[in-house]
This record gives sequence, structure tokens and C-alpha cells, in this order.
Amino acid sequence: MDDRLREQLAAWLEFYRDLGIEDFYRREPGSRPETRNSKLETGQDLQPRAAAATSPAAPEPRVLSPESRAVNLSPPPLSLSLFEAPPPPRREPETLEQVRRDLGDCRRCRLAGGRKTIVFGQGNPHAELVFVGEGPGADEDEQGLPFVGRAGQLLNRMIQFVGMKREEVYICNIVKCRPPGNRTPEKDEVDACSPFLFRQIEAIRPRLVCCLGAPAMKTLLGIKEGITRVRGQFFAYGSTKAFVAYHPAYILRNPREEKILREDFETIREFLKSAG
Ligand code: URA
Repeated sequence: MDDRLREQLAAWLEFYRDLGIEDFYRREPGSRPETRNSKLETGQDLQPRAAAATSPAAPEPRVLSPESRAVNLSPPPLSLSLFEAPPPPRREPETLEQVRRDLGDCRRCRLAGGRKTIVFGQGNPHAELVFVGEGPGADEDEQGLPFVGRAGQLLNRMIQFVGMKREEVYICNIVKCRPPGNRTPEKDEVDACSPFLFRQIEAIRPRLVCCLGAPAMKTLLGIKEGITRVRGQFFAYGSTKAFVAYHPAYILRNPREEKILREDFETIREFLKSAG
């Protein structure tokens, strides 16, 4: 199979996987479907990934070139006659309320012991833009709302800078409970909490998910590189896109970097304008 066809097939499989379709069959030319429906022989990179209906894992990212930034992820052009997919299963998207209900009075990790409130998230359940931070700080823990302290004030200014109101976007964190002393959440805490984050994003289906800081970038995109090299870039994230920016708290500690944050938010603004 040549590389272009392989890429097209991979893109198609990914598209259908996002719709929840995992099994594909190839009909040999001239054969009848009921007698020759054989499983499509695929390479490793074409294997559809398993979908977990209740705790989806973060989709694997693909870096997008600058030219593809404004392009909607639509089904790739490939003749359907190459293979036939079963009709998409009817699966109602989960709502944020369902995810919140399922989270309940969470005790899945040790952070529950030190929290005052669970900070689930705040904003428009149909937002085009979702921000993901690290975890609640003292102010957030007190009020039960994300990004209400000093870092939140800066985030609010940045949201206005992209021409939006805070109520129009959705804001949440990797972990929903405050880590002691505002430390970075540990792996087992992220593992326990991040499935709820993935479900929140799936429920909202935004056009863009903005990772604020390295922990959000690692959790959502699996990127281990330094954020300095990755910020300002777009990645494919399931059927949507993700973008990486510095965390506002980092900018408060390094005010000279605010220029870079503004540049990145300008990129977000352009994306939202053009991807309509
Ligand atoms: N920092 C975060 O990462 N999240 C918040 O909600 C507040 C500060």
C-alpha cells in the first residue's frame, strides 16, 4: 500500500473511531459482501483504538502544521468503495451534569482529604474554547470555582483580549481538588482525576482546548518536551484541537514573559476567527 493511501486510510479510521466505530471490513473486488467480508488487514498505525464509553482516555495528539491551523477536521477524501463501515452507533453525548454526578463526593485519591470543595469547572457547557489549568489553589478551594485568584484575574484579561467573556468559555483543571501547598499534582492523582477532565471535554466538544502550563499539556497531549518549545502550537486532539500556552501563574512570576502569552492568545483569537 502506498504511503498516501495508508495516510488517507489512517485518517478515515481515526475519523470513524471518533464517531465510536471500531470495526471495519474490506470487500475484495468482485466478491459478495456476505461471503467475503474479511477484517481489514491493517498495519499497527491503522488499528482502531479501543473506546471506553465511560472513562475515555485522552486521544493521542498529532502536531498540526501552521498551514493546517485554520482547517476544520472534516472526513478525509477517500472513496467509500474501498471499505464499508457499519452505521454509526447511536450514542448520546454525555452531559457535564452527568459527569459531575458521576464524580460525586469524590474520594478517589488523597487530595480529597485536604480539600474544602471540589472545583469541577465553570462556564459555558457548549463553549468553543476550553481552558485547562493544573489544580485549584486556595481561593479556588474556598469558592469552589476555577481560576478566581490572581492567576484567574490574568486569565480573565487574556479571555477579554481574545474578544470573549469569561462566561462564554469553559474553565477547568486536571485535578478537581487542591493539592497541598499548591504543589503539582502527582501521577496517581492525575490518573484518578483526568478521566473526568476527558469526559468534560467530550461533553462540551469545543473547537479548541487550551492547555495552560506543562502539566495540562502532559496530561492532555502526552507531551514530555519542555513547554518553552511547544507553546504556541496546535495539536490534533481527538476530533478537536488543542493549543499550548504558558500558565498565567508562571507569567505572574515572570512578568517579562507576558508578551509571549499575549502572542499566544492572539494566535487563539485568529484561530477562533478563521475556523468558523
Ligand atoms: N491555577 C490553576 O491551575 N487552576 C486554578 O483553578 C487556579 C490556579
